[in-house]
Amino acid sequence: MAKLVFADGNEEYQLEDGAPIAQICEEAGVPFACTEGICGTCVIEVVEGMENLSDFTQEEEDFLGDMDKERLACQCKIKGGCVKIKF
Ligand code: FES
Repeated sequence: MAKLVFADGNEEYQLEDGAPIAQICEEAGVPFACTEGICGTCVIEVVEGMENLSDFTQEEEDFLGDMDKERLACQCKIKGGCVKIKF
């Protein structure tokens, strides 16, 4: 099992390894629009555990430019372990 932690509220959610994070992010209040990696509405900041997220998609590379702390929540899957994010 993997764990997604929201830094602001300290909420924690358990996910299957390899699961997309979009649904839990949406429940936690991250806004979504296109869900296809185009609009950038769902941008999140990864505080810890970037290595536990799936590789950047082409859409994320195109939208985010430098691949540092930000991800698009509609594009990420959690590989395992713990990822802490804020939005
Ligand atoms: S919802 Fe549009 S980029 Fe994620």
